[in-house]
Amino acid sequence: MEKQQFKSDFLWGGATAANQLEGAYNRDGKGLSVADAMPGGKQRFPILESETFDWTIDDNTYIYPNHRGIDHYDRFKEDIALFAEMGFKCYRFSIAWTRIFPNGDETTPNEAGLKFYDDLIDECLKHSIEPVITISHYEMPLHLAKTYGGWKNRQLIDFYETFASTVLTRFGKKVTYWMTFNEINSAFHFPALSQGLVKSNGGGDYQNIFQAWHNQFVASSKAVKIAHEVNPAIQIGCMIIYATTYSIDANPTNQVATLIQNQEFNYFCTDVQVRGEYPAYTKRTYKKYGVDEQALEITKEDLALLKAYPVDYIGFSYYMSSAVNETMTVEETDVVTGNLLGGVRNPFLEASEWGWQIDPDGLRIALNELYNRYEKPLFIVENGLGAIDTVEEDGQINDDYRIDYLRRHIESMGEAVADGVDLMGYTPWGCIDLVSASTGEMSKRYGFVYVDLDDEGNGTLNRSKKKSFDWYKKVIATNGTDL
Ligand code: BG6
Repeated sequence: MEKQQFKSDFLWGGATAANQLEGAYNRDGKGLSVADAMPGGKQRFPILESETFDWTIDDNTYIYPNHRGIDHYDRFKEDIALFAEMGFKCYRFSIAWTRIFPNGDETTPNEAGLKFYDDLIDECLKHSIEPVITISHYEMPLHLAKTYGGWKNRQLIDFYETFASTVLTRFGKKVTYWMTFNEINSAFHFPALSQGLVKSNGGGDYQNIFQAWHNQFVASSKAVKIAHEVNPAIQIGCMIIYATTYSIDANPTNQVATLIQNQEFNYFCTDVQVRGEYPAYTKRTYKKYGVDEQALEITKEDLALLKAYPVDYIGFSYYMSSAVNETMTVEETDVVTGNLLGGVRNPFLEASEWGWQIDPDGLRIALNELYNRYEKPLFIVENGLGAIDTVEEDGQINDDYRIDYLRRHIESMGEAVADGVDLMGYTPWGCIDLVSASTGEMSKRYGFVYVDLDDEGNGTLNRSKKKSFDWYKKVIATNGTDL
């Protein structure tokens, strides 16, 4: 391997999202978010995708693990101290929209919510940890989904603008790094989380998904504009989920299918948010998905805004790669179970217990593909292995599998930097165990810090260090040279 030093100011850290760890879902004026209406367990996505799901919270039938999270709301000082002990240079978290605007359509913010994030940010800064803030991470106000029909409604642009403007104005002098929407391109797979769309409010219709995307693009550009006005030093990025995509073989039919999947999934949103224009293949994509272009509400002013306010950097999550197969029949196709993005099984890769295909080389490819396409700084803001951890009798948690996963991915990052990629930082996902987004489970753990809490909500919530804690501390201390 060709060794290459990461930048001296490389942003090593970890990442979380408000709805998955804060808990306190109805405290101090917080309103309900879409995440608060998502039941726990492997049935979470099937329930969200059913025809009848309408965001009703049914405590008699389901548990809602996001309501309690890991109680970070009350324990954030302890958690930040642990991150500081690992030597974090940055910490990525999100702001719960519903702490600031409980229903989303108010004009006056909830001061108690703003105060919580002031305290959280100040705690980070006290430990010389740079906050990296996602403005919206799968937690839009439930009221906006139920009453306004989610992001397909153009009024959400104004509501988001008010929210973004409020938090950027309040925190923008002390927080440099921001992102507008988490995994904005995930809407093909998770429209409920990212756009507030389920079947009962139009989520099954691509017309709505593309309209919602457009509204989010406009909202994102407005946030970029506000951010730079508040503080020209702010760097504000987009955030996508990137799955390096291979053709299953050299058959040109599969290669073409791979090209198209890359365009539709990996690049459509970044093409707009980074270049400020809809890409050349847009019309054909609309046609394929039955989208009536004339019926989309896209104004000249919108397009001018997108062009004027592209993002400063590209944040992305990378967990796995995907394989495309157009030529084999469904019976012949070995679909990777439990994984919406992975496509068919790649015989060269192993998968996690949740069917996510582990592919460190794919990260080097992702970094090169994104950098060569856009030549904008890249920030890996999520990566990691969801795994079941065992607490030994002596209290140790020997998560060598996690260390191995992260080590191999960091090696690939080093290779990509040697390739010439401008990489800003690395924040592995779920640096402290938290509630899974796709299944609502606690048993799918990513953290360096273990949290004593099970899928049914039993446990002391005590924090303890896994083996990977000291390993990551060493990685940061040596700027990624001692893995
Ligand atoms: C990303 C999301 O898709 O993956 C996170 O941004 C999520 O919110 C993470 O938690 C890991 O996925 P999961 O389903 O294992 O929690």
